Amino acid sequence: MMNDQASTLRKKFSSSAMNHENSSSQAVRSLSFTSGKGGVGKTNIVINLAIQLAKMGKKIFLIDADLGLANIDIMLNLAPEYTIEDVLTGTKNINDIIIEGPHGIHILPSSSGISEMQALDAEQQMAMLRELSSLKTRYDYILIDTGAGISPNVLRFNAAVDEVCVISNTEPTSITDAYALMKIMSSKYQVGSFNLIVNESSLQEAKSVYSRLVKVLNRFLTVNLELIGYVPRDASFIKAVKQQTPLSLLFPNSPTVNSFIKLARQIDLSPGQSIEEDTRESFWKRLGSWKKR
Ligand SMILES: Nc1ncnc2c1ncn2[C@@H]1O[C@H](COP(=O)(O)OP(=O)(O)OP(=O)(O)O)[C@@H](O)[C@H]1O
Ligand SMILES: [Mg+2]
Repeated sequence: MMNDQASTLRKKFSSSAMNHENSSSQAVRSLSFTSGKGGVGKTNIVINLAIQLAKMGKKIFLIDADLGLANIDIMLNLAPEYTIEDVLTGTKNINDIIIEGPHGIHILPSSSGISEMQALDAEQQMAMLRELSSLKTRYDYILIDTGAGISPNVLRFNAAVDEVCVISNTEPTSITDAYALMKIMSSKYQVGSFNLIVNESSLQEAKSVYSRLVKVLNRFLTVNLELIGYVPRDASFIKAVKQQTPLSLLFPNSPTVNSFIKLARQIDLSPGQSIEEDTRESFWKRLGSWKKR
């Protein structure tokens, strides 16, 4: 895609454009959840994050943008009658196909097994983003689960949002592919900052993945990366997927679900702030309450 097309997409979909349409003073934030390598936990993370943000009273619009390989509906045990495909072929408009998930999350389902869906042309994607930005309903967050890799669909969705959240686990292949994705987003679409979420990880491992990425990014690109959260390895994810019930509903009090609560709070705190900064703020908050005692 040409750079001017990318910037048009960004303008169409950015918070200011959405807010203008919505005539609401509160900002709508759009975030994509994306990865270079597949199977690193994007769909599980975005679903649980959506639930936690919804539990905080936020209005959530969750888009399954893994076109042709949709998973969100399956993971939530929903059976959508229509999908994004019906919007793109012009038979339905977006308002007709939105379905409701847990905690009132609105979901834009995608389709499975339709190969044309994997290669939207720029026009189709523009049309879809135009539809999205014309939604009358007000949302606090638009969360987009992209497919894996560096296909044009993935890159364009990432180019269109306010904030790109890159997900990696601790494996070198996943870290290398996360770098490759950021490199292409930076060079082709001028995206200058990214959020990092490390999956199947401890805080220490997450910090190590973060510094490895920062090292290479600093060497080759002028890109800002913030570590905004990590999710521990937890065998219960397999149970959750098998039972088609998100972990946040299945084991709401587990430490893993607590990591999603933290991630939701971190994201809601302010855009592009690292968990290091969050730790500092918590420290000052703690200091404040200590003084009162
Ligand atoms: N923190 C975790 N601990 C253990 N298993 C996990 C964790 N996160 C995800 N998984 C498992 O990894 C698998 C892939 O997860 P998921 O489908 O969310 O990844 P994805 O990045 O969306 O994949 P794709 O690229 O195919 O869309 C699932 O079987 C899930 O149960
Ligand atoms: Mg997925």
